[in-house]
Amino acid sequence: MLTAAGKLMKVFLTRRIPPEGMKILSAAGVCEVSQWDSDEPIQRADLLKGVQGAHGLLCLLSDKIDAEVLDAAGPNLKVISTLSVGYDHLAIDEIKKRGIRVGYTPDVLTDATAELTVALLLATARRLPEGVEEVKNGGWSSWKPLWLCGYSLSGSTVGVIGLGRIGMAIARRVMPFGVKRLLYSGRTAKDYAAEVNGEYVPLDTLLSESDFIVVSCSLTPETQGMCDKAFFSKMKNTGVLINSSRGTVMNQEDLYEALSSGQIAAAGLDVTTPEPLPTNHPLLTLKNCVVLPHIGSATYSTRGIMGALSAQNLLGGLQGTDMPSELTF
Ligand code: NDP
Ligand code: DGY
Repeated sequence: MLTAAGKLMKVFLTRRIPPEGMKILSAAGVCEVSQWDSDEPIQRADLLKGVQGAHGLLCLLSDKIDAEVLDAAGPNLKVISTLSVGYDHLAIDEIKKRGIRVGYTPDVLTDATAELTVALLLATARRLPEGVEEVKNGGWSSWKPLWLCGYSLSGSTVGVIGLGRIGMAIARRVMPFGVKRLLYSGRTAKDYAAEVNGEYVPLDTLLSESDFIVVSCSLTPETQGMCDKAFFSKMKNTGVLINSSRGTVMNQEDLYEALSSGQIAAAGLDVTTPEPLPTNHPLLTLKNCVVLPHIGSATYSTRGIMGALSAQNLLGGLQGTDMPSELTF
């Protein structure tokens, strides 16, 4: 795609992306690609420099795309394509004001993320990391009636906060474990919840009646800090909390208190604040807290498809044609 001056349009990639995406960009031959050629995040100063004059920006969830970045890019910028379904790192109001289109990666990562969330739920509830550690450190002395006991999904009540694409995929996966009731809360009741016998309930009901609570909502001003002291105080003492949404949905100081005081039984987090979580963080001292490094969508095939989709979104935005997954706002 040529600019008015007869030059190829410029795109800037804030990281190395899966080869499936790079192949699509090269084969299209419509843009000149420059890239932060690393697997590590770009520094802010390099982002502000790299984006200058770009017509398209392909970014990751770790890049904060705000007015400063948009100003640095300048008036050429037509499209931002993020390699993620979450878009809380994008200043949507500023982007909208400037008429810039946004592409993202919904659906293609739903199964992988739901699968990981269920794995984290089971690992946390059945204390798998503790068990593995005991085998390695000699703590396994014999079979003991109450040693390393945890909580079972069978016969339980599961509460899903945010029954969207991923929340629903999690619900579908836990039901066959013999879950008795599936509660959910969010802004609106969903017709499709009937498939999992989902009961739409107020958040307080979900908190007090659930044995397992899964947070799978998007990060918004309303959900930021939602899991705090008051939230934990309404949960059962035997309750297990899982978060695969965004780290800032959780007040981590309050979570530490709830876990160490026995207010709640255990937590599994795929997302934290900050990321990475410092290795000396208090949550990492707790046996009843399982922390993963934000790997919800991390399967080879999913990341390849995300790479391809983000490249196609970028090209659609550059060429002014349909984008396979355009965010409407
Ligand atoms: P969806 O948009 O399909 O679902 C988001 C859900 O959040 C909706 O059901 C929405 O409910 C709910 N929600 C919004 N506001 C609130 C609120 N105030 N209280 C309760 N629920 C609320 O998105 P996805 O399911 O595709 O993705 C969800 C999130 O998962 C992403 O935004 C991202 O942050 C995270 N994610 C994490 C991954 C990981 O690696 N851990 C991987 C992929 C995504 P309603 O419709 O009623 O508004
Ligand atoms: C997303 O897409 O929002 C995830 O957090 C990473 O896949």
